[in-house]
Amino acid sequence: MKVLGINGSAREDGNTAILIRKVFEELEAAGIETELVQFSGQVIEPCKACWACGGQKNCVHRKDIFRDVFEKMAGADGILLGSPVYSANVSSNMQAFLERAAVVGDMNPGLFMHKVGASVAAARRGGALQAVDAMNHFFLNHEMYVVGSVYWNMVYGQMPGDVLKDEEGIANMKNLGRNMAFLLKALKQEETA
Ligand SMILES: Cc1cc2nc3c(=O)[nH]c(=O)nc-3n(C[C@H](O)[C@H](O)[C@H](O)COP(=O)(O)O)c2cc1C
Repeated sequence: MKVLGINGSAREDGNTAILIRKVFEELEAAGIETELVQFSGQVIEPCKACWACGGQKNCVHRKDIFRDVFEKMAGADGILLGSPVYSANVSSNMQAFLERAAVVGDMNPGLFMHKVGASVAAARRGGALQAVDAMNHFFLNHEMYVVGSVYWNMVYGQMPGDVLKDEEGIANMKNLGRNMAFLLKALKQEETA
């Protein structure tokens, strides 16, 4: 089983990456493979509303890394989306990615069915709930199961590493990882029963 993590931050290995890796630690401890894709240094183009993806398995535009990441997503059992909060929502790269993924997903009904999804956000102070919700919306209309934890999946910090000082937030990330592993394993058992 494999979980793909996608970091929408402009900062490589910043706070969002730390959160994703905290979730990964628990997944890996449960024997689940992980892979992290980071959008830093990349520009993800927005959807052009051309509908050329109709009848295709992927977006037809090749200017950025979208196609590769979408393919990895389609091949994973679980998807962990992470974004820093920018202007009280997800980063524009994450928004553009979700826009396009949603349209290509709509052109391919069932592609994400019964996969497991979770979303995490790093914030200095405000807007994290909107960011987590924005990412979860992708899962919720693509027949996926959304994993929760004991609080909404947001952790506070500004400069890289600051999130590690939010002990409650980090404990919540680890719990999220254990819950994600539980659901992935339960679904696998059901599939093979
Ligand atoms: C363009 C930009 C906009 C931001 N907007 C917000 C915001 O609306 N609310 C907030 O709490 N933090 C905001 N922040 C702070 C980041 O969310 C915070 O520093 C986060 O930890 C960055 O995560 P990263 O290290 O993964 O990039 C903003 C940062 C940037 C660069």
